Amino acid sequence: MLSSQADTGKRTSLHGHWSSRMAFILAVTGSAVGLGNIWKFPYVAGQNGGGAFVLVYLACVFLVGMPVMMSEILIGRRGRRNPVATMALLGQEEGHSKQWQWIGGLGVVGGILILSYYSVIAGWTLGYVVKSFSGAFTGATAESVGAEFGGFVGNWQVIALCHTLFMALTIFVVMRGVERGLEQAVRFMVPALLTLMVVLLGYSINSGSFGAGIEFLFTPDFSKLSWDSVLVAMGQAFFTLSVGMGAIMAYGAYLPEETSITGASAAVVTADTSIAILAGLVIFPLVFANGLDPADGPGLVFQTLPLALGQMPGGAFFSTIFFVLLSFAAWTSAIGLMEPAVAYLVEHHYRTRAQAAVIVGGTIWALGFATVLSFNVLADFTFTALPGMQGPTTIFGHIDHLTSNIMLPLGGVLIAVFAGWIMCRNSTADELGTAGNVYKLWRFLARYVAPIGILFVFLKAVGVLDTVTAAFTG
Ligand code: TRP
Repeated sequence: MLSSQADTGKRTSLHGHWSSRMAFILAVTGSAVGLGNIWKFPYVAGQNGGGAFVLVYLACVFLVGMPVMMSEILIGRRGRRNPVATMALLGQEEGHSKQWQWIGGLGVVGGILILSYYSVIAGWTLGYVVKSFSGAFTGATAESVGAEFGGFVGNWQVIALCHTLFMALTIFVVMRGVERGLEQAVRFMVPALLTLMVVLLGYSINSGSFGAGIEFLFTPDFSKLSWDSVLVAMGQAFFTLSVGMGAIMAYGAYLPEETSITGASAAVVTADTSIAILAGLVIFPLVFANGLDPADGPGLVFQTLPLALGQMPGGAFFSTIFFVLLSFAAWTSAIGLMEPAVAYLVEHHYRTRAQAAVIVGGTIWALGFATVLSFNVLADFTFTALPGMQGPTTIFGHIDHLTSNIMLPLGGVLIAVFAGWIMCRNSTADELGTAGNVYKLWRFLARYVAPIGILFVFLKAVGVLDTVTAAFTG
């Protein structure tokens, strides 16, 4: 153990390091803040009844998501390799097995699957930049934005083109490597997005049904909450924080030794949660003021915001800026989704970063067609194939459910168990800094709350627990 600790002090990453603590926080925030906050959070909150869902989501973010994030960063920094190699290395170093590398493998596959649909939605935001700019939403009505959205996603060639463009942009940044590529993109995007959201909030307070929006978001009605919804809330917590699949682990590998992991995680979680809540506060008042349906699904943001902005003076301008910023937010997240697979290919198969980016990106691009077609040609091809699903959905719905609600929580359990039970106290305390109570709290959450909580929700949603209890109680 001692000798391994001496080793870790010297370990460095093959891919370079973040230039500063701020650069790391910006990069992780860039990965965390994305479509998950502005596109997905409002629509899943809407589909799952609002208040109670939001409460469960917040509990999952702080009690499960944040400790898993800290675990990922500390594992990543200790191993300093791609997630697969890091898990293999630390597994052995801690006197266990190399087979923990499969967590890394799960993450590599998870990232590829998530990005395959993430890129399609990000492509929509690119399309909406063009639409906004050309004034398509000026004087918009609830019907016209609905028709516009329907017509847009109904045309598979157009959204395939947007998806292709977005993947090309992502591959481009990933090719350029850690510092030059990732840091610069995030540095101005997060503050700019935050500013614009606050401006939009002002509009929605003035022109929306603000009271109705607040009530929907913050008044919990637990009768509306099924265990399936709890599973979705938990999946959303993982998704929005980018945890459970090694993306943050890969970023942690480039983290300088002296940076505080707790401090960095707290900053990222706060920024991410604020932006999601802000998005909800902007969107729901507009939904209620315009008689839209909160449970409308993936098109929600693409209808409410153009509608609101279309009625504002200078709306075409603001709407263009909004979708540009959202595209940026998606872009900095997409990079993180590719990173584990790219780092893996570079380290294990001796590809250059550029080759790896093209190989991984090309695969993701091809897989993306399953999602592209889910909104038009195959829109009626719905089925229920996975445990814990709320009802039949398209192929897109399946990829989303499989990744967010199954793979990320499963990865999260394994990462928490690894950091909390497999790694010895010395190793984790060494990385987190032995800050007394904070360390104890993290360890308690990582050892007990996160793994038991995740498994409980999962088994409840799938119905296994009820079957078992029924069997025992007769
Ligand atoms: N967190 C991002 C969002 O909210 C999506 C994302 C980026 C992600 N990297 C990830 C999700 C890694 C899961 C895992 O938009």
